[in-house]
Amino acid sequence: MTLQLRVYVPPHPLIKHWLGVARDASTPSALFRSAITELGRWLTYEAIREWLPTTDMTIETPLAPCPATFINPEVPVVVVPILRAGLGLLDGAQALLPLASIYHLGLVRNEETLEASCYLNKLPDQFNPETRVLIVDPMLATGGSSVCAMEELTKRGIDPALVRIVAVVAAPPALQKLGTAYPSLTIYTAGIDETLNDRGFIVPGLGDAGDRIFGT
Ligand code: PRP
Repeated sequence: MTLQLRVYVPPHPLIKHWLGVARDASTPSALFRSAITELGRWLTYEAIREWLPTTDMTIETPLAPCPATFINPEVPVVVVPILRAGLGLLDGAQALLPLASIYHLGLVRNEETLEASCYLNKLPDQFNPETRVLIVDPMLATGGSSVCAMEELTKRGIDPALVRIVAVVAAPPALQKLGTAYPSLTIYTAGIDETLNDRGFIVPGLGDAGDRIFGT
């Protein structure tokens, strides 16, 4: 069986609404931050549906024994925000995964070459191979940053099939690059945009998410 990258655009009205707010150039920084937080929350909700491990047991209600399903606390769950802009999605993701460990990864693109380089890496030397990883980054443009994050994770024992990437907008070059390198990966995004401009920005996109979140 040939594995193929799975890319989901959940057809949820809240996701559509907050994507529209984030795309609008007239949205001020404070509201833009709220929109990204909400997108982090609802995209994470969708992304963890078939991914968060559960365990079945029998509990006692006040009246009788009853089968019940809980989050399995023995399987490690981690969130990896790609700095800076990924920090904007973190609050929403963390609200749904309060017990997840957070490992920050600082990546920045060279504005000329568009190559990503790593300036902060808080990943442990090795992960438990069962670890579920949620990468959060608002934009997948050339795919250089997300492939770099995947390289750092897989060389520490992460199975790409257990990774979900949550992104606000994704462009075809990034999906092509990720699909070639990690065909078992799954992506949840609010929108797939048409193209990149000559500066590597997603078009129509939402501008520079990091600058808009932090007002810089
Ligand atoms: C942006 C964005 C992604 C990356 C996507 O970050 O948040 O991390 O670019 O581009 P790519 O797919 O071509 O690698 P940026 O480098 O602007 O850093 P920032 O988050 O600190 O603003």
